[in-house]
Amino acid sequence: DTLRADAALKADENGGTISRYIYGQFSEHLGGGIYDGIWVGPDSKIPNVRGIRSDVVAALKDLHVPVVRWPGGCFADEYDWRDGIGPRDQRPVRKNNWWGDAPETNQFGTHEFMDFIDQIGSEAYLSVNVGSSSPKDMREWVEYMTSPGNDTLANERRKNGRDAPWKVAFWGIGNESWGCGGQMRPEYYADEYRRFQAFFHKSATNQGLKIASGANAEQYEWTDTLMKMAGGEMDGISLHYYTLPTGDWNAKGAATGFGTDQWVSTFARTLKMEEIITKHEAIMDKYDPQKRVGLFVDEWGTWYDVEKGTNPGFLYQKNTLRDAVLAAANFNIFHHHVDRVKMTSIAQTINVLQAMILTDKDKIELTPTYYAFKMYVPFQDATALPLTFTAPQYSAGGNTIPAFNASAARGKDGHVYIGIANMDPADNIVLSVDVSGLKVTKVGGQVLTADKMDAANLPGEKALVAPVDYKGGKIKGNQLTLDIPSKSVVVVQLN
Ligand code: AHR
Repeated sequence: DTLRADAALKADENGGTISRYIYGQFSEHLGGGIYDGIWVGPDSKIPNVRGIRSDVVAALKDLHVPVVRWPGGCFADEYDWRDGIGPRDQRPVRKNNWWGDAPETNQFGTHEFMDFIDQIGSEAYLSVNVGSSSPKDMREWVEYMTSPGNDTLANERRKNGRDAPWKVAFWGIGNESWGCGGQMRPEYYADEYRRFQAFFHKSATNQGLKIASGANAEQYEWTDTLMKMAGGEMDGISLHYYTLPTGDWNAKGAATGFGTDQWVSTFARTLKMEEIITKHEAIMDKYDPQKRVGLFVDEWGTWYDVEKGTNPGFLYQKNTLRDAVLAAANFNIFHHHVDRVKMTSIAQTINVLQAMILTDKDKIELTPTYYAFKMYVPFQDATALPLTFTAPQYSAGGNTIPAFNASAARGKDGHVYIGIANMDPADNIVLSVDVSGLKVTKVGGQVLTADKMDAANLPGEKALVAPVDYKGGKIKGNQLTLDIPSKSVVVVQLN
């Protein structure tokens, strides 16, 4: 069927800047996320530059990835940064206790990560080990990376091949400190956070922001305690929220082969992001009304049952049209919170959870989620524009969702963009947008959809989901009419 809806765009109002960091990535030492995914080693037959695979670099460059969070995740709170520096053939092999007991060869360490960041033109967000290490360890890593002086750690960095200090945009002080990062109570972590950050020295070459380990989903009390006890000492606090189709960690739901009920339950759960952010914001507003402290949603995305036949500790899952529409729906939510949400990183870039890229030996495939990120590139550092609308509803299996959500912005190129996630699996939507005050001569853009809800792109197979030019828009006077196919992502460009 075709549904109708109305919207109004306020093109002359400034809704704040959409930080480019909202389009960040998270890459952990987990499964094929780093090894095979990024690092193949300099001797590999797979084309690479200093061990980093060139096909992946080219794809990520195109995505304008603003920041990458590394090395974890849970892995970060067992990571010894010293294991990953110096001659590669002398680095220790450790057991990756969190992720499938895989041997961690440490071939990819600080220098290799920063090389990767340079190659893709991005910035670094490093997670510091708080759970099983000390402030001394953190202080030395910071000094090793950022000191410009003639001190022993900076000279060690030079000996290992890097002369100039590196710029690190963000430092995460612990990860999930309530869970895998040390099972701490909020009061205890708040004190730990205060202690660690006291030895984190900002300097001319270290302007990195300090990010506290934040809450999981609806753990509001964690944010409250942290903001109360340590809010003044942090630049940001994180938030993790994963989307499980069923909400049950023991039977999350499959990545493919699902029906309409599970499509709808997945969206019902992911849209909770709006409420979760709003409630954490309200707590932060209480202690930080000037909105100095950013909310960093540094883990989000879909988490399905692992693909049959793969190591359950590697969190490998297929990626379908559902993931792309879900990514866009979350972008639209983040755009409504730009005064507080300063950064997000999706879990995870390659071969893990809601990935941008899947690799299989020398083959790579760009996922539907990759394309959603690509379509939304014009929103990076754009000015949000208020867009009001009333969405019809869609119900199945006991859940009701709005048929679509949307957001608008004026890009740095001067064009106005409207991003729409049509979450309705069955109905096209004809959206009439009042664009009074805006002179529109051309309506273009891109649309991403497919015949099936679970259409996927897999390495070595024909890609089923990729964006094409959008031809469904018309302008007549102040009235913009957009024909939005069911289960799709549309980014409209107004010239
Ligand atoms: O992204 C996978 C894991 O999920 C991360 O390591 C951890 O922080 C979270 O629980």
